[in-house]
Amino acid sequence: MHHFQYKEHELFCEDVSVAGLAEEWGTPLYIYSYATLAHHFRAFDAAFREYPHLTCFSVKANSNQAILRIFANEGGGADVVSGGEIYRSLKAGMNPDRIVYSGVGKTHDELDFALEVGILMFNIESTQELNVLNERARLLGTRAPVSFRINPDIDPKTHPYISTGLKKNKFGIESSASIQEYRYAKTLEYIDIIGISCHIGSQITETGPFVEALRRIKSFVHELRREGIRIKYLDIGGGLGITYDKETPPPPDEYAKAVLKEVQDEDLTLILEPGRVIVGNAGILVTKVLYTKSTSEKNFIIVDAGMNDLIRPSLYNAYQEILSVTSFSQEKYVADMVGPICESGDFFARDRLLTRPREGDYLAIMSAGAYGFVMASNYNSRPRPAEVLVDGSETHLIRQRESYEELIQGENIPPFLLSEPGTSRSS
Ligand code: LLP
Repeated sequence: MHHFQYKEHELFCEDVSVAGLAEEWGTPLYIYSYATLAHHFRAFDAAFREYPHLTCFSVKANSNQAILRIFANEGGGADVVSGGEIYRSLKAGMNPDRIVYSGVGKTHDELDFALEVGILMFNIESTQELNVLNERARLLGTRAPVSFRINPDIDPKTHPYISTGLKKNKFGIESSASIQEYRYAKTLEYIDIIGISCHIGSQITETGPFVEALRRIKSFVHELRREGIRIKYLDIGGGLGITYDKETPPPPDEYAKAVLKEVQDEDLTLILEPGRVIVGNAGILVTKVLYTKSTSEKNFIIVDAGMNDLIRPSLYNAYQEILSVTSFSQEKYVADMVGPICESGDFFARDRLLTRPREGDYLAIMSAGAYGFVMASNYNSRPRPAEVLVDGSETHLIRQRESYEELIQGENIPPFLLSEPGTSRSS
């Protein structure tokens, strides 16, 4: 469900014309629907209502403060992977005791920051990290609440770049070694064991892999209990997929039912880390057709957005639906939709049957709300796009378009280079 619909022949976000927004704020432009974001969060959270739980939105999927604020207002928490994400979450109004922190490479500074603000839980991914955290907590005169992120060796049947719970992946602690980790952690003075966690991958479109992972984790929880180690939190990560093309992922209700069936007899609090399923279909990237050209081989639609603005098609060969913002033309042709970046991998669609656009038309790249702006870069010195949030008939600019000045902010030409242009030292 989302609120991007045609009215007559024009694409709308809620009650606002997408073409009107593109005219007003320029392109490329990220547009998000508040109603869709709030609905997705509520639907997901409500699916778990019969069991103690905390829904921690995965900040890496979309970290705009306005978006985070929506979920904070809904009573949600945050799943973070860096000090920067902790900072953003706090600035957006997230409660520190609703923040969980995963990641294989947490730095000393990041651990200190998280300890100082008092987050809910550190999801530990190696023995060395555990030792460092124990030491940082000692130095800061505090204690660190931890869970271990277990790698359950489950195939999530998704793109290899976004599968994380296989033995060969860098994430988590091998299941066979986990019990020793817990025993060891018990001996550390500044560590409080409070949970267990796992995250097997992203864009998962069936419940099977989640259930399988959960069963492994559950039997491990029982093993811990037999050892006298009682935990409170079971963090099952994120990963629920969405429909980009023809995928039919289980809706949150079905996913929740499958999860709750496994945990109903356990005295635990679930932590959920959904990202994509909440924001994916709640955002689009609007771009303008600059030129069209045909070679003997191909038709090209050249647009003003590039792989620097939305990298998913280039990086994962991901499918993103392309819609015409105004759909007056019915003429279709097979074309590549490409950006202005100097790379042949800079494309949004390849050999796709698309409506033949005219110069100046707007096109909408759908399902761009997750892993869209957050993965944008300044490659080719392109300012990153603006982001707007639509609420009914109102529009709010939630991130202004970057300027050329911002592009060079922080750069410095050392004084020794500041002689007359054209007079280098060797000349
Ligand atoms: N928790 C952890 C520990 C994660 O690593 C992730 C995503 C999530 C939760 C949220 O997963 P989600 O519910 O969004 O599937 N850039 C890729 C996706 C990378 C996902 C990384 N981890 C893409 O564009 O498909």
